[in-house]
Amino acid sequence: MEKFIAFNPVKLHFGKNAAENIGSAVKKVTDNALLVYGRKSIKENGIYDFVAGKLREAGVRFTEYHGIKANPVVDDVEKAIILARESNCGAVIAVGGGSVLDSAKIIALCAKGNHDPWKVMKYEQKPDSALPLFTVLTFAGTGSEMNQFAVLQNQITGEKIGYGNNLIFPRESFLDPSYTMSVPANQTAFGVVDLIAHSLEAYFGEGEAHLTDRFICSIIKEAIETAPLLMNNLNSYELRERIMWAATCALNGITLTGRKSGDWGVHDIGHTLSYLYDTPHGATLSIAYPAWMKHMKSKLEDRIGFLGFEVFGVSNANETIAKFERFFSLIGSPVRLSEAGILQKNQDEIFTLMKKNKISGYFHKLFEDDYLKIIELMK
Ligand code: NZQ
Ligand code: ZN
Repeated sequence: MEKFIAFNPVKLHFGKNAAENIGSAVKKVTDNALLVYGRKSIKENGIYDFVAGKLREAGVRFTEYHGIKANPVVDDVEKAIILARESNCGAVIAVGGGSVLDSAKIIALCAKGNHDPWKVMKYEQKPDSALPLFTVLTFAGTGSEMNQFAVLQNQITGEKIGYGNNLIFPRESFLDPSYTMSVPANQTAFGVVDLIAHSLEAYFGEGEAHLTDRFICSIIKEAIETAPLLMNNLNSYELRERIMWAATCALNGITLTGRKSGDWGVHDIGHTLSYLYDTPHGATLSIAYPAWMKHMKSKLEDRIGFLGFEVFGVSNANETIAKFERFFSLIGSPVRLSEAGILQKNQDEIFTLMKKNKISGYFHKLFEDDYLKIIELMK
């Protein structure tokens, strides 16, 4: 094992009616908050009314910033930071999926000082404090509710990038699996792919960590067993619950213990596709992961084979990759660019952006020759 520090300060409330105490939790730190949410789902499924009611009951007034889009952009974050400063908020409350939570993290980090969010994302400015962040999760997938990461894109620089800082761990997160029941089938599948991809990024990271490998395989097995049942029964609380907890565990630190880092090269490829075509995050990963594994197969034969044995009971790398590909298809997530509506003629621009942004994993470095081969395998 590699040396590591385990740290996760998030107080996580999980289960039916978990969000009941959001008002009293926020009230302990402020009576004036910024409420951040997405485009329309929480107004349609009643979550907005519930959370707003709980805040009012507790005597917390709030200013709203809404309209955060999937694959969130830094422009929204800039506008919300101004609003948070003008209204002198003492906390940020995010209600939504990873896009809302990630935006709220950078808002909370930049609202206190005079920081520019993109410079912060690029580590050119280093805030030394953040507003407390409370989250109500409505979408299972990213793990953002219990981690210190945020991902944003910038339409001017042509990038979608990740950022990590212990200051952006949520103070408290509220997870009621029934809040995810209104997530449609395709988006539900994308969340499942995302949690599996986080487990794989950790698995293919740097360093040997046996117990961590077992945690990872268990999380993937849980998703692979549960997701097909869930796709046939989207209103099952028990299945929503299992996927939601698996998604949190896939990126709350436990899968990275004992290693220097995860790899994250496939996420980098996925971010390129999301940036160019606004493809949902999980959908980019079900296309890129099988292609990346095929490309890496000669180098990672044993490692992929062990994974396949633990997760699927198969005996070699080829079968493992085929199993993952079939599973992603089975739950309705694309495994080829064309299935996500990305055309043959788009391949040059994918290659060009990968080159410009020097797409790579931390551990398994990727170069121009790799880009071409991986693009070919995603076709
Ligand atoms: O905007 P609304 O109307 O709310 O609709 C959203 C959005 O269109 C909808 N939705 C959310 N909850 C719903 C719902 N629809 C019906 N019922 C509900 N209960 O779902 C759509 C997708 O939401 P989004 O927040 O974009 O999904 P997700 O949670 O997958 O987040 C994806 C973002 O997180 C980043 C991704 O790159 C992407 O930008 N990631 C963040 C990570 C982190 N912070 O650790 C790690 C991940 O690897 C990932 O990169
Ligand atoms: Zn992800």
